[in-house]
Amino acid sequence: MKPAVDTLVFETVKAYSEWREKLRAEQPDAIVGFVPTMGALHQGHATLMRVARQECDYVVASIFVNPMQFAPHEDFDRYPRTFPADVEICKNVGVDAVFRPSVSEIYERPISDMTKVIPPKELIGHLCGFFRPGFFEGVATVVLKLFNIIQPTQAYFGEKDYQQLAVIKRMVKDLNLPLEIVGVPTVRERDGLAMSSRNVYLSSDERNVAPGIHAVISAVRDAVLSRTPVSTAISQAKVSLTAIEGLELQYLEVCDGDTLEPLEQARKPFVVLVAAKLGNVRLIDNVVEH
Ligand code: PAF
Repeated sequence: MKPAVDTLVFETVKAYSEWREKLRAEQPDAIVGFVPTMGALHQGHATLMRVARQECDYVVASIFVNPMQFAPHEDFDRYPRTFPADVEICKNVGVDAVFRPSVSEIYERPISDMTKVIPPKELIGHLCGFFRPGFFEGVATVVLKLFNIIQPTQAYFGEKDYQQLAVIKRMVKDLNLPLEIVGVPTVRERDGLAMSSRNVYLSSDERNVAPGIHAVISAVRDAVLSRTPVSTAISQAKVSLTAIEGLELQYLEVCDGDTLEPLEQARKPFVVLVAAKLGNVRLIDNVVEH
């Protein structure tokens, strides 16, 4: 493993590509790990970077709040942007290079005129894809563009965004992209709340009750593992979720861990996925049983 000396910051494709080409010429076999982010980095991101640091010769992170994955009514403008603190985290973890492009650097023409990646309906027709139409097109398109720019050997994604991870794995397979996707387990606060850049929006009352979501999906996992039918476990869980003050459930499903097909009777690998709004904050979480 190569200890990082300093973290380089690139704002243009040209500047990053020159660095990447030089690296390829000097060290053709170097393993380059990539952690794509939208910034507002927390310990979940730092964990992805640490895993990449352990497994790769070079680590590159991107910080880009991608307008294509936000619907007009969503929080693109108010999404937290904390670049100086983000770079400090990257430096502390030993990230070699940060790619931080502007919107016009990534989208040279209006997004409506761009070529897009459309993930298969079976993967995005339910769960977050149902509640956020266009979201996974935006994610898959920008991630493919970032893969083409960064040219990584492997890329690291959190299991917290489980459907996103499944969509990216499928894109890499279907389009024969020459890299490996590594899923990293969700990092949680001590009380079980999954770390997320959006947790900063929670009021203190919402923050107090938010860990209940993880407790409920863990109970669903335990119930279906002890052969309770999925529909029964979900009905019981919905009663528990109703007891959480201010919570509005969007979905709660038990799905195949690879294909995300909804299951009636759990069989491994499976994943229990939930999305709910607490006030104005949309939270997602899942527990995986491999
Ligand atoms: O998970 C995220 O932060 C984003 O969806 C990603 C993968 C960086 C694409 O914009």
